[in-house]
Amino acid sequence: MAASSQISFYNATGGEIRWDAAKSVGNSRQGMMLILSGLGPTIAAATVMLVVSVLLAAWIYPLMTKWMCSVFSKWLHVPEEQLPGADNSRAPSSAVRTWTIRAAIITLLLWIIRPAVPFNHISGALPFVMFTGAASHSVKPQPGAASPFPFPELLEEIYWEPSDGHYKGWNPGATDPSELPAWASEYLPPGFERWKDPHGNRAARNSYDPTSDPLRITNLNQGLLAPLEEALKERDIPITHIVMVMMESGRQDMFPFKAGSRVHEHILEAWESSSKKPQEDLDEILSQLTPIAEVLTGQPSGFNSSAEVASQKFGGINIQGVTTGSTLSSKARIVDYCGVQALPVDFMAEMDTSSYQPCLMQVLELFNQLKQKQNDGKDPRERLWNTIYAQSVTGQFKAQDKLITKLGFKQSLYSEDIDKTESKYYHKMEKINYFGYAEEEIRPYLKDMIRDTIDNNQRLFLSHFTSTTHHPWGVPSKFTKKEYIPHSEAFSKHEKLDAYLNTIRYVDNWLGQFMDLLDEEGIANETLTVFVGDHGQAFDEDSRMTGTYQNGHISNFAVPLTLHHPLLPRIQTVANATTVSILPTILDLLTSTKSLNEDDTEISLDLANQYEGQSLIRPYVNSHHGREAWKFAIINAGGTMLSIGSAAAPYRLILPLTMDFEFQFTHTELDFYEEEPIVEWDIESLTGLVQEKYGDEAAEWASRAQMVGVWWVKERMRLWDFHPKDFT
Ligand SMILES: *[C@@H]1O[C@H](CO)[C@@H](O)[C@H](O)[C@H]1NC(C)=O
Ligand SMILES: *[C@@H]1O[C@H](CO)[C@@H](O)[C@H](O)[C@H]1NC(C)=O
Ligand SMILES: *[C@@H]1O[C@H](CO)[C@@H](O)[C@H](O)[C@H]1NC(C)=O
Repeated sequence: MAASSQISFYNATGGEIRWDAAKSVGNSRQGMMLILSGLGPTIAAATVMLVVSVLLAAWIYPLMTKWMCSVFSKWLHVPEEQLPGADNSRAPSSAVRTWTIRAAIITLLLWIIRPAVPFNHISGALPFVMFTGAASHSVKPQPGAASPFPFPELLEEIYWEPSDGHYKGWNPGATDPSELPAWASEYLPPGFERWKDPHGNRAARNSYDPTSDPLRITNLNQGLLAPLEEALKERDIPITHIVMVMMESGRQDMFPFKAGSRVHEHILEAWESSSKKPQEDLDEILSQLTPIAEVLTGQPSGFNSSAEVASQKFGGINIQGVTTGSTLSSKARIVDYCGVQALPVDFMAEMDTSSYQPCLMQVLELFNQLKQKQNDGKDPRERLWNTIYAQSVTGQFKAQDKLITKLGFKQSLYSEDIDKTESKYYHKMEKINYFGYAEEEIRPYLKDMIRDTIDNNQRLFLSHFTSTTHHPWGVPSKFTKKEYIPHSEAFSKHEKLDAYLNTIRYVDNWLGQFMDLLDEEGIANETLTVFVGDHGQAFDEDSRMTGTYQNGHISNFAVPLTLHHPLLPRIQTVANATTVSILPTILDLLTSTKSLNEDDTEISLDLANQYEGQSLIRPYVNSHHGREAWKFAIINAGGTMLSIGSAAAPYRLILPLTMDFEFQFTHTELDFYEEEPIVEWDIESLTGLVQEKYGDEAAEWASRAQMVGVWWVKERMRLWDFHPKDFT
């Protein structure tokens, strides 16, 4: 059964099961269903294996019996003539014995002298790997003190910077702890632990200090993006409310879907090589895939038949070049909501420790604490914040509800809250995937929550997670599916992408309804809406493996990021950043638009200088005094591979964190779709090949990226106060 699961998993994703990970996913009902969604192919594989083994058994059994008897006859004292199949054709048992012993010795010798990478993994027999799991970490962190930075020359005193206003300065290696800000006290909300210590924080084991972070580069000393600066001189852009829409498997190239994109090319090629003809005008239906995303981002789809983008009514800053901080959704949430980088270990070990930075909801909680509970509410900046998380699918999958509460949300809505008969808008609902319902089912609840917040004279922080774009890409039965790619031929590989494209259109339409809600409640002109993908999604058309699990392909990382506000000017910008920049960007926008009162503004300016990410409403600084702005992304499930990039160089490295995986290098300009990665089991061979193909500079970068990656992993263990030995 295990072997057939392995085969069906490979068939579905192109990867291998890690049995330790499967145990964790299978712990919940929805996880079990996720696993069981591969049941068909598993049973098919099992049946084939069973039939073949029954047929072979008739032949193998006597052969094995003969061999075993020959080998052991000496010790069993069985006379030669009585052995099964005793006839002239058989070799004498002493000869069989000798050969067997020789073969065993050679195998043992090979086993002992083989190099650990990759042969430990390749030579693992299924029954053993199933139960041993991920014991073989090659990056063994030593928790506790910070580990030495691999490039001390970049940290020399000549590069140190003094503090300046809200900027805390930069001086890794200095011994004075940075000063506590005026607002620090022992009564801070959860998330602010490191400011509660009156003796400073540098000595504290798991605390982040921006002045001593060797990788930190600030861009808060840069001016705002010019069009924003101009607009703010002309008019107020009030941000009373913030909405954050996190889009499941939201690929950058699907927000909006564009003519001439790689996926568009695949679609055209597929129709060309198919015997079928599209039933509708292909251009017409493709141009209707993501009209709302076109309007929100200000990016036209480029199809001849698409309507003009109504840009007057909508403003916003659309940022391209952004990659997710993790391809595991829950870790991506931590990165996006808390401005931290997650733990590079499998699954949510973050639940057992605490974030090394306050999450956005906790920052808003601090703002609340400092206000009079009673205020006349005339000035929105004096109002209290209400933080809400809402999705139409279950909160129980991998204890997501607990994570959401831990990150500081005060109110939440999951499928569990809408499918009880006593729920306010209860009716018979249709499940569209193993996690729950279509987004539209929560519309009336969302409306109520927004209305209540406004009626209570509060400021709204609403985060909505869209979920229909998750595997297995089901849509409500009343939603008419289109055939974007021909796929009805048997064993067509395009089935998944076609289903995904249908969910993309479904969610795009939903986002239109969602934005209408803000209009209906009269808050559109004072609401900042952030759209971001939790991670991308690789399909057969993109890479050898599909999905995010242990798959380093770029299509899993590139996500859309749009900051929408009707009064913001239209800005198209590029930043080679990760989503760790979202939180500092929101703080920067709140203060730049004067949307906070005086006390909160002070705190926000202080805090923006405490996070790792740069602000995306200012020019991104790609390198500073030889230090690169690195980009890290933890690959699903967390502890096996790390994606490393840099804003200063057009390269990407996949760093294996266990000995089961290979190094992988791509040139992101010359091989934009990552069709020809360089893959090797060790870094020396890899840099050798990189040098041959792309030259010295690329090879040196790969080697630097590897060293920085190893350091980064250890540093996360320290910051999260995580001890691998505690982790079971
Ligand atoms: C749009 O129309 C022009 C001219 O007919 C054609 O060359 C071009 O390929 C069309 N673009 C798309 C995306 O279909
Ligand atoms: C939003 O602002 C725009 C531009 O100032 C204005 O035309 C529009 O009427 C406003 N909408 C609402 C609902 O206040
Ligand atoms: C982002 O990285 C790409 C690839 O290295 C590069 O071509 C582009 O110029 C960079 N963009 C910015 C704004 O630095």
